[in-house]
Amino acid sequence: MNSSRMAGSLLVRNLTHHLSPSSSTTTATTFLNGAATRSSVVWMRFASTSTASVAREETGAQKEAATAPPPPSNKEVSTYWGIPTTKLVREDGTEWKWSCFRPWDTYKADVNIDLTKHHVPSTFLDKVAYWTVKSLRVPTDIFFQRRYGCRAMMLETVAAVPGMVGGMLLHLRSLRRFEHSGGWIRALLEEAENERMHLMTFMEVSKPRWYERALVILVQGVFFNAYFLGYLISPKFAHRVTGYLEEEAIHSYTEFLKDLEDGKIENVPAPAIAIDYWRLPANATLKDVVTVVRADEAHHRDVNHFASDIHYQGMELQKTPAPINYH
Ligand SMILES: [Fe+2]
Ligand SMILES: [Fe+2]
Repeated sequence: MNSSRMAGSLLVRNLTHHLSPSSSTTTATTFLNGAATRSSVVWMRFASTSTASVAREETGAQKEAATAPPPPSNKEVSTYWGIPTTKLVREDGTEWKWSCFRPWDTYKADVNIDLTKHHVPSTFLDKVAYWTVKSLRVPTDIFFQRRYGCRAMMLETVAAVPGMVGGMLLHLRSLRRFEHSGGWIRALLEEAENERMHLMTFMEVSKPRWYERALVILVQGVFFNAYFLGYLISPKFAHRVTGYLEEEAIHSYTEFLKDLEDGKIENVPAPAIAIDYWRLPANATLKDVVTVVRADEAHHRDVNHFASDIHYQGMELQKTPAPINYH
């Protein structure tokens, strides 16, 4: 699972991607060659308006440039900046075609996770969070009814917001207070990334119409700002809201699966992006995709309810958390 990975491993791997032994040599060479060339050009520009003695030096510089080894011709130059792209391959040797995620971002979802867990709202804040989410479900049900492909796609545009907002605010707090994050920044940003991959997957199954795209813009504008303010006031409340949103997501995906099993929705082959991201078999279907996405939502549910329970996200625990009331 994404958030269970070592916090620094992704950073190290990303750095490795950009600065792998072969690419770092090439990049460094390119950069140094480029710097040398640029300084020659600048120097020569000044020399053209200067004295004869400088002109003699220019001749020397030109000779030096003429005898300098030519730039390597076999390097791959993909941009003006001369940064080569690293070609990656799958385990079977075929080329990795995704730039939005890399092989080390892939994983196998824990499909055995308990889907029935529910945090019983006990405090006033819990109840407000619970009923806020329940009331949001009413317009969602009316708008989408049983169009679960479309519903999943639209809801993922919302689900990817809390992790990014929480991660960003904890990041800023860590900077302000000169404090460690306790791993929460990475966990929340990974959650946001995981939700965004859900969206990238469902986009392959259901294409949004123009008014759905307009609705996403409107909802994002409202939800981002509301969640941002909510998180500033009470991270405990914000994580509880997300925990309940995830419980609703599990319910929606369970209904989606029922319709797939009953044949009301065609069980089409899984999108290629899903097969690579969740390491699914080549003959996986939409049902397999919905199953692993639902497992991800269950994981997000547990992470967010836990974050709400401990209350001190990003800081050392200063008191024993209240007993967690699950059934
Ligand atoms: Fe999701
Ligand atoms: Fe989720």
